[in-house]
Amino acid sequence: MLLPDEPSVVTSLRRRLGGIAFGGDYNPEQWPEEVWAEDARLMKEAGVNLATIGVFSWARVQSAPGVFDFDWLDRVLDLMAAHGVAVDLATMTASPPPWLTTLHPQILPVRADGVTLSPGGRQHFNPSSAAYREHAAYLVTALATRYADHPALALWHIGNEYGIHVAASYDDESAIAFRGWLRDRYTDIDTLNDAWSTAFWSQRYSDFEQILPPRIAPTLPNPTQQLDFARFSDDALLACYNAEREILRAITPDVPATTNFLYLHKPVNVQRWAPHMDLASLDSYPDPAKPDARLDAGLAYDILRGARGGQPWFLMEQAPAAVNWRAVNLRKRPGQMRLWSWQAVAQGADAVLYFQWRQSRGGAEKFHSGMVPHTGEQTRTFAEVRELGAELARVPGLAGTRVAAPVALLLDWDSWWALELDSRPSAAVDQLGSLAHFYAPLFESGAAVDVVHPDADLDGYRLVIAPNLYLLRPETAQRLDAWVRAGGHLAVSFFSGVVDDCDRVHLGGYLGPLAETLGVSVEEFVPLPIQDAVNGTVTGVAGAATPNSWSRSGVVPGSSVRLAFDDGAGPGDHAEATGTIWSEAVHLRGARQIARFADGDVSGWPAVTRHDRGAGTAWYLATRPDAATTSALLRRMLDEAGVEPPLPDLPEGVQVSVRQGQGERYVILLNHSTRRQTVPLPDGLTIEIGDGAGEVDLPAFGVAVLRGSL
Ligand code: GAL
Repeated sequence: MLLPDEPSVVTSLRRRLGGIAFGGDYNPEQWPEEVWAEDARLMKEAGVNLATIGVFSWARVQSAPGVFDFDWLDRVLDLMAAHGVAVDLATMTASPPPWLTTLHPQILPVRADGVTLSPGGRQHFNPSSAAYREHAAYLVTALATRYADHPALALWHIGNEYGIHVAASYDDESAIAFRGWLRDRYTDIDTLNDAWSTAFWSQRYSDFEQILPPRIAPTLPNPTQQLDFARFSDDALLACYNAEREILRAITPDVPATTNFLYLHKPVNVQRWAPHMDLASLDSYPDPAKPDARLDAGLAYDILRGARGGQPWFLMEQAPAAVNWRAVNLRKRPGQMRLWSWQAVAQGADAVLYFQWRQSRGGAEKFHSGMVPHTGEQTRTFAEVRELGAELARVPGLAGTRVAAPVALLLDWDSWWALELDSRPSAAVDQLGSLAHFYAPLFESGAAVDVVHPDADLDGYRLVIAPNLYLLRPETAQRLDAWVRAGGHLAVSFFSGVVDDCDRVHLGGYLGPLAETLGVSVEEFVPLPIQDAVNGTVTGVAGAATPNSWSRSGVVPGSSVRLAFDDGAGPGDHAEATGTIWSEAVHLRGARQIARFADGDVSGWPAVTRHDRGAGTAWYLATRPDAATTSALLRRMLDEAGVEPPLPDLPEGVQVSVRQGQGERYVILLNHSTRRQTVPLPDGLTIEIGDGAGEVDLPAFGVAVLRGSL
């Protein structure tokens, strides 16, 4: 969905903040009140202009039904207002207090295997629980009423990372809600039977009352039941969000609301949620131990920005240094927090916020870094925070500018859910892996990418790539076809267009409704053996996918097949080109072969094809080519589509991004490598942040922000 116009409440928020938002989660209830004055002083020193308060304060503000203590929170908000710090006030519903789950144990979520999750951690609520929703609504009403006119209130923070720990509950109350959801979707039971293919394995229902969530079954549960349950569970969480949003909108219509999405989190369909928010925000925890962590982060940012039609978004949380929840928690190296913060800004963020302001003394996150560490203000971490706060304040005009992307990657959450269900031809085919496969070379090329739903308006894009678009509605295929015929360049990878919205196969040759666009048809899948990382064995059949699992860990590509590019057709020297994960029997139906499989079961069959269609071009990739081959193919596609990189010949490891608006253009250069690099200063740009004359000097992890007019 395209949301080109930012809501006016967000424009007002930006004016109030005066530029990029800077700050983080502030949990004063964990500290004696004497510490608060020091917090306020240090916030000023660090340039903090926004603090997220109250995310886990439900038990502190409400000790029993109807018994509230807001006095301490009044004092915190007054303190913030007095120090010019705006408040992103949380609705506090992310962790129900012990009295509530004691009173209503049915609030507790139940797993697919029947185990009830106990309180003692956080997010222990069943999204469909009426008791939870009622008590949440009561609390939110009380909060909104109390703080509607408080001068510190600038933004509402609804819940927290919906679905991070509990994305679905399989209890009886959820079963009733699921049946209601199915009645709305299918109206009558015969339509559901047809959609779910229940003629298979004697699964036919004669009444909606017989339907259950896909609890652990003796063997593979019905795939469409699983798919619909993923949709329903996501809707249940969204309904929790919307119920709170409606209360807030009625009481504080001028205050925008957001919720913080979790980074690359499959259960929550960001594209479906985004239009329900005034402003989208994201928590980003790239792993400093991963050399390509910037790509994970970049992909998550481009998904979020794409979901909001290109609007700026908020980086709601990131670690100042280390997290506490990996096996080994590497800290960000000196300069890396600054670099990664600027990466978010380069990719469209209007806020750099952290978890959390002051590092906790006790509790499960005491070894998670804070902007103010245990050791205090005389620390490397606080110094880096303070410097970044000052630096961001030097470019207030950046806030509100936009990234204009010429390339789109297509992602449909329904298709992601369906693609990774059990009993597929290969468990090695995963959505994030295939997105990342194309994302990495595009990122390195400097071409900005939006990740968008296939039904989004594609008119502004020159090149569109569909990695494993497994579930495809015929209407979507028709729109893609029209876009290609009008001059678009489309590339589609294998195992796309296979099923409809109900996970039923499009008959008559795979690729179904896209076959004509691509000028090919697929007769038979020939997936390649995979390595089971757990057992170290090579197997022809996926053993790693378990029923109800939403994770594909443990499966890595095993063998590969050689690819031979036709004379003159290959972009460069592809003597060593290979494909992994997949091969298949492809028939040419108008497309031209660019490369063929050179060994394996389908040796001699087309592996890469190109089809002139109307004024456009449609590519098909019947395997996952190796990284160098994919890069070369993408270079050719970008050239043919007329996509120019923002700067030519960027050194390896240097990211470039352009944000523009209001007659101004910012070029942001980020050196992700540990080597010093230089980039010629382009005409018409001056260095706002960074060093150099004639050329931009980028030390290891260095950042430069250049500015010019449009
Ligand atoms: C997020 C969460 C925060 C904090 C943080 C630690 O998932 O929203 O409350 O737990 O992780 O990394």
